[in-house]
This record gives sequence, C-alpha cells and structure tokens, in this order.
Amino acid sequence: MTDTQKKRFLKIVTELARTSRLSSQAGYTQHGNTSCLLHSIAVAYHCYKWAIKLGEHRFASDELIRGALLHDYFLYDWHYNAFPPNGLHGFSHPLTAWQNASKDFKLTEREADIIRKHMFPLTITKIPKYRESVIITLVDKYCSLYEVFSRNTYNIPLIRQAEKIILKNKDTAVI
Ligand SMILES: [Fe+2]
Ligand SMILES: [Fe+2]
Repeated sequence: MTDTQKKRFLKIVTELARTSRLSSQAGYTQHGNTSCLLHSIAVAYHCYKWAIKLGEHRFASDELIRGALLHDYFLYDWHYNAFPPNGLHGFSHPLTAWQNASKDFKLTEREADIIRKHMFPLTITKIPKYRESVIITLVDKYCSLYEVFSRNTYNIPLIRQAEKIILKNKDTAVI
C-alpha cells in the first residue's frame, strides 16, 4: 500500500469516526480475542488491499472501505445476546447493522449492499450485486477464521492506527 493509499484509508476512518458509534464496538468481542471494532477495521483494510491488488480503478474504494467499516455495525455482543433485535444473529445481523448505519449515515446503494449481503451465502437470498460486496463476503470469512485461530491478531500498523483514531473519538463523536 502506498502512502497515498494509506492516507486515503485513514481519512475515511477519521471522517466516519467523527459521526458514528464505531468506538462502542471496542467493547464487543467478535471472535477469540478480537473486538468487533478491530475486526471491522481489519476487514476494511484487507478489502482495500484486495481492491488495490485487483486494480483500484475497477473499484469504488471509498464506498468499499466505508461499507466494510460498517458491515458489522449491529452494536451488541452477540455472545451474550440470545435474542437480538431481528432474529438469529448469524442471519439477522447484516440487517441490524444496515438499520443502525442508516440511522447514522446517508449510505449509498453500494454501501448498503456491502453491509446487507456480507453474510452470503449463509443468507442465500441476499446475493451481492456489486464487486465490492463480493470482496467483503470473502475477506470477512477469511478474517473471521484467522481471528478464531490466532491469539494476538492484526499487528499491522495501519490497522492499529485506525483503531486509535476511532477510540480517540470515543467521547467527542457527534451523532
Ligand atoms: Fe458479519
Ligand atoms: Fe464481519
């Protein structure tokens, strides 16, 4: 990733952090020792890396990063929530994440698609419409497996930097 690409990634993170509840995701575990916040940042980072690898001009990178950062914006700890708002967590959390994200942001159609369909093929009727939505279905599964089997996850400077930016906005985020 070039310096320009890193800056682009952090710019989007910073903008989103200002007006979101992303920092609250730090309090929820996603898999193993990884918080939901770290997972979301890592998914966004790896999605962007894949887009660069496959040809950045082919992708709406800003929307891909934003959608990925918000893909698990369901805002509860699924390990302790037997009855989440929209039904069984694995199937329903993309809908909850989309509802929450829609409250805090004006999402583009592509961002909404990324969030709502990221669990495909588990949610078999939600077929990804955009190539950005396809990338996240793959990256999300890869990251989830990595988190389950690794103890100390994501020691990647850019990911940690993004995490710091979001946590710094903890008390000042305006929604
Ligand atoms: Fe998810
Ligand atoms: Fe995820």
